[in-house]
Amino acid sequence: MKTAQAIYENGDHRWLAIVRDPDRPGYLVDTNEYLISVGDDAMLLDPGGSEIFPAVFSALCAEYDPRRISKIFASHQDPDVASSLSMWLEFNPDLKCCVSWLWSSFVPHYGGTGDTFITIPDGGMDIPVGREQMRAIPAHYLHSSGNFNLYDPKAKILFSGDIGAALLPPGETGLFVENFDRHIAYAEGFHRRWMGSERAKRDWCARVSDMDIDMLCPQHGAIYRGEDVRRFIDWFANLEVGLVKS
Ligand SMILES: [Fe+2]
Ligand SMILES: [Fe+2]
Repeated sequence: MKTAQAIYENGDHRWLAIVRDPDRPGYLVDTNEYLISVGDDAMLLDPGGSEIFPAVFSALCAEYDPRRISKIFASHQDPDVASSLSMWLEFNPDLKCCVSWLWSSFVPHYGGTGDTFITIPDGGMDIPVGREQMRAIPAHYLHSSGNFNLYDPKAKILFSGDIGAALLPPGETGLFVENFDRHIAYAEGFHRRWMGSERAKRDWCARVSDMDIDMLCPQHGAIYRGEDVRRFIDWFANLEVGLVKS
């Protein structure tokens, strides 16, 4: 069963990370889901695949009333990101889903109607959660052609989707990166293959280098915090991506 753990708390402003399901079948890639709550409002980030919906839902219910979630943020179109959408909409048909305009007629194949989707323009936009404003940060081609990170300027947390992802072997269950050099070995193959554009990578590294980030939270693997955020950005900037060994 997955568990929901608070990674940031300041009054009624909270981030929950829903991570690590030891019961998950081995044929599914492991995913992290995050919930940002501010007062009576909340947004769920990359809610995950339909197969893991029950595990995510029950982990969430232990910490937060899911009826208060008003929005889902989908960083991109992948099945491990958003194929649970129809189940969330069955639970609450009024939920909105924020996604790149590029995918706005593709993601409805998972569920929803024309009223469900809030489309994000290429340059990004602010998305309110309660009284706070989150910011959708462009991360196109890393790896999806219409791809966004989500930044919380108060909490100084960047949800980075597949950027920063690591495919951890069994036994590596820590929520945070504790040994960067050891951890990054599990991220290297993923980034080389999935991140298709050198130029997009350089643009993203420049963009996020100017931001104040205490935690970088990927959709797979452990969370980078403190000095490891800068270490990750530098490592990624120097990594050759978009190569296939044949
Ligand atoms: Fe993806
Ligand atoms: Fe993913």
